[in-house]
Amino acid sequence: MKTLQEAAQFIREKTHQYQPDFGIVLGTGLGALVQDLQVAFSLNYSDIPHFPVSTVESHSGKLIFGELGGRPVVVMQGRFHYYEGYSMEQVVFPIRVMQRLGVKKLFVSNAAGGLDPNFNTSDLMVITDHINLQPTNPLIGKNLDELGPRFPDMSEPYSAHMVQQALDISLQHGLSVKTGVYASVPGPMLETKAEYTYLRTIGADAVGMSTVPEVIAAVHLGLPVFAVSVITDLCSPGNIKKVVLLDILEAAAKAEPHMTLLIKELIKRQD
Ligand code: HPA
Repeated sequence: MKTLQEAAQFIREKTHQYQPDFGIVLGTGLGALVQDLQVAFSLNYSDIPHFPVSTVESHSGKLIFGELGGRPVVVMQGRFHYYEGYSMEQVVFPIRVMQRLGVKKLFVSNAAGGLDPNFNTSDLMVITDHINLQPTNPLIGKNLDELGPRFPDMSEPYSAHMVQQALDISLQHGLSVKTGVYASVPGPMLETKAEYTYLRTIGADAVGMSTVPEVIAAVHLGLPVFAVSVITDLCSPGNIKKVVLLDILEAAAKAEPHMTLLIKELIKRQD
C-alpha cells in the first residue's frame, strides 16, 4: 500500500497532477497507439519508485500521459509478464497505481495465438471472457481490503456494454473484429500441439501470456475492463505451424492501426 502511494505521489508531482480518466495497457508489438496520442508527459518505468522494469526487448517501458480521441488517458507502453520472473503483485502494480491516479476504466491489448479455426492472422478478437491458466494470481495472500473485496465476482470481468460498443464501432469502420475467450498461460515457451488441442477443447478461442493478471486486479479494484487480442499466429488443432517472434511482431504491426482505431473510438464514447 505504501509503495502504491509513493509511486502515485511521484507520478502526480512529475505530471503536474495530470488527471487521466482511462488507463491503457499496450501489448507486444502494439506500442504505436502512442503516435495517436497528444502527449503531455512521459515517464520511464525505471524512474518511478517501486515500478518493476520491463525486460522484454519489444517493450519499451514508459508511462505516457496525454489525450486520445480528446480524452485524458495514461498509457502503459510495455507491460510486465509473469514469465519474466516478476511476482503477480509486481505484474499488476501499475494497474493499481493507475487506479490511484483516478483512472475509471481499463483498456488492455495483447498479442495472442488464434485457436478458433475461423480466425486469420492480424484479426482483432474482443475478449468476452477468460480462462486463467497462470500458476497463481495477484489476489493470493492477505486481502488488501482498501483495494477490493476478498472474493471478487468474476461473472462479467469484461464489460458487456463496451464489447457491444466495440462491435458497433467495428461495423461502422469495416474492421474485422471477432469475439472470444482468452486463455492465459504462463509461457514463455509456446504450446505443444497437444496443449493447443487441450486449450481449444476447454473453450479457448485465443491464447497468450498476459492480460488475465491485470484484469483480475482491475476487477478487484472495481474497474470496468475492455480487452482485445491481436491474433498474431494461428494454432487451431490440425493447423499448427512453428511460431516465430518476428512473425508475431509483423502480424501485430499489421493489425495495430485497427486496434488503435478501435480503442480510440471506444474511448471517445465513454461517459
Ligand atoms: N501462444 C501463447 N502466447 C502467444 C501466442 C501463442 O500461440 N501467440 C502470441 N502469444
